[in-house]
Amino acid sequence: MTDVLDRFLLDLGGLFRARTLYPQGNPRVVLAAEKAARSLSEWGRPVRIALLGDGAVVEDRSFPAPPPRLQPLLRALRKSRCESARIESAAGAGELASWAEHIVSAAPGSYRGPGVASGSMNLEPQPAERPQDTTRLAQAAAGYLSLLPKTEEALTDLAAQRPGGLLRAREIVRAIAGHLAAGEDLIRPICELKDHDDYTLTHALNVSVLSSALGRALGASREMLEILGLAALCHDVGKKKIPGEILNKPGKLEPEERRIMDGHAAAGAQLLLAMSGSLVHPLLPVVAYQHHRGTNGSGYPRSEVPGPPHAMSLIVAVADVFDALRTVRPYRAAWSTARACTILIEKASTGELHRACVAAFLGHLAILAPGRRVALSDGRGAVVIRAGRPDPLRPVVRSEDDEVLDLMSPAAPRLAEVRESDR
Ligand SMILES: [Fe+2]
Ligand SMILES: [Fe+2]
Repeated sequence: MTDVLDRFLLDLGGLFRARTLYPQGNPRVVLAAEKAARSLSEWGRPVRIALLGDGAVVEDRSFPAPPPRLQPLLRALRKSRCESARIESAAGAGELASWAEHIVSAAPGSYRGPGVASGSMNLEPQPAERPQDTTRLAQAAAGYLSLLPKTEEALTDLAAQRPGGLLRAREIVRAIAGHLAAGEDLIRPICELKDHDDYTLTHALNVSVLSSALGRALGASREMLEILGLAALCHDVGKKKIPGEILNKPGKLEPEERRIMDGHAAAGAQLLLAMSGSLVHPLLPVVAYQHHRGTNGSGYPRSEVPGPPHAMSLIVAVADVFDALRTVRPYRAAWSTARACTILIEKASTGELHRACVAAFLGHLAILAPGRRVALSDGRGAVVIRAGRPDPLRPVVRSEDDEVLDLMSPAAPRLAEVRESDR
């Protein structure tokens, strides 16, 4: 530990420790905050920290087994359920002290200040964006298909840990952002084109497009969207390490094969962690590691860190499940959009997927628009007569026995199934 960044990390750990021992405003806490602010200012750049299982990533340095000197800092962050932090170089002693107050009090949730952000992105859904005119499938498909060759190159390079892969991945994500910002519809080809010939490739691109669209619907910043799109594109990169006979087995996996297959999450995280350089944002390995984890503690790999996965992992998980269901697999046909959405709703109700993410996703797809046939949790069939606002999972419906039900009402049944519908 000799350079300025190392010194800042030590000083930050020292601040957390001082605040644990002494009350807010105590001279020792003030001095520790001033010391940390000085080394941060000397470093002169933002510092990004991500916690990943037992390990951590700070800027481009990965610590699969963090040394004891980093433990006070990491312990404090874990205890407050923080999985990621960004500290601007201009953050002063006052702000670092406020952040330490938040972290040491182990207050769950995110911290947002002008110079420090930690925890998760804002997941409050904003009013759902309506897709644009949806009759331009051919045009949308052309935009989408133009991204496939670059995706293939990027994934191959990434699996070989060649940095060029990330440069290409970034170009793809910027192109996706450009299409989405221009109001062009990249979602429709994903929902309607079924001839996926290379699953891992098209799946990566689909999940990136769907995650970017969902991130936008949730109000993520442009910077966050770029990281999210990249993280989604790379989420299954660990599958390149899984033998093809397991990856494409036309049948149920045996327990040992399942264990190997499930290892793709950790393998992907390790692969991304091992790549150094400013393009590898610390959240990329986090999302690769967590995208099969539920908000309810289900899924894999298991975590000792309390609290739900990072918000980006939750977003990618929804896009991932949806695309996997919508795609032809060696062992089953592709499911319809309606049936895939029913599974998302089921998984949101059990906590396997984040409910706000699923709601925003279905809102974005506009699948629960007036005319859609649904089934309710009390077994009745119904038709949507008004889309759910602000919660797309709670529309106003007319049941088969002609009762009008506002599913926002606490006494109302839940939406249980999205049916194929003539719309
Ligand atoms: Fe995966
Ligand atoms: Fe996936």
